[in-house]
Amino acid sequence: MSSAAIIDGKAFAANLRQRVASAVEPFVTLTDRKPGLAVVLVGEDPASQVYVGSKKRATVEAGMNSFEHRLPTSVSQNELIALVETLNADAAVDGILVQLPLPPHIDDKAVIAAIDPAKDVDGFHVVNAGRLAVGEDAFVPCTPLGCLMLLKDHLGDLSGKNAVVIGRSNIVGKPMAQLLLAENCTVTIAHSRTQDLPEVVRRADIVVAAVGRAEMVTGDWLKAGAVVIDVGINRLEPEAGQGKGRLVGDVAFDDALARAGAITPVPGGVGPMTIACLLRNTLVAAYRRAGMSAPEGI
Ligand code: GUN
Repeated sequence: MSSAAIIDGKAFAANLRQRVASAVEPFVTLTDRKPGLAVVLVGEDPASQVYVGSKKRATVEAGMNSFEHRLPTSVSQNELIALVETLNADAAVDGILVQLPLPPHIDDKAVIAAIDPAKDVDGFHVVNAGRLAVGEDAFVPCTPLGCLMLLKDHLGDLSGKNAVVIGRSNIVGKPMAQLLLAENCTVTIAHSRTQDLPEVVRRADIVVAAVGRAEMVTGDWLKAGAVVIDVGINRLEPEAGQGKGRLVGDVAFDDALARAGAITPVPGGVGPMTIACLLRNTLVAAYRRAGMSAPEGI
């Protein structure tokens, strides 16, 4: 039985981070300052704390400034928006990331709307979502941008491919579909109300799974040779005697190996690309704010 190629997101991300770090050096020489990323974390969510810690480390490793703002869960929406406005006005800050999810008393749309679109390195502001949809230069959300980079690296030209994106979130599914459409794919967005999902997925040359359900996509859902990008990060219940459960994707990896042409592993696939693309977007924001373009190929 044939076995799929494993798409090494970890290696690709390490290479991208290196390229970003190399492009930070001329920026510092030209502007006499480092690019800066401000990360805002509200509350004590353990997963968010881990993500924010990783983002900070990677930012500093790339030679950029990391400005971290930790606020208590009790912070009001107005106080949070006031912080965002201060960061918008801060010349040392090129990128602003407000870690999601926010506590339930805060309207995340209102907070995202307060971010200057030129500093919206998450690409969540409606101005950036709109620019992406109409084909203008936009900040693109980091996870789908990373998925696209892996797909193009593996496949080259995506023109005419049938792509099925499972999941319709504003953070992954919708921007992923826009990016694939811009690459001339025929795009289907599937979701929880899609009828006969396995049949829809079986038509796909490219599958992007972003639903957050452990191992939902099984091998028999895949067309032979399909390229599978697994965005899911799900922790299984621990087995007896184990402290933590295993991390798995939205795709049943071992099962999919026998049918797919290529597949991203979890962990080590899409995950590392998200942070690398955040650094990339911050670098691009810094160059643009300084009236320049970032070096080619970033
Ligand atoms: N929470 C989970 N993923 C993300 C992300 O990419 N950006 C932000 N701001 N919050 C997140």
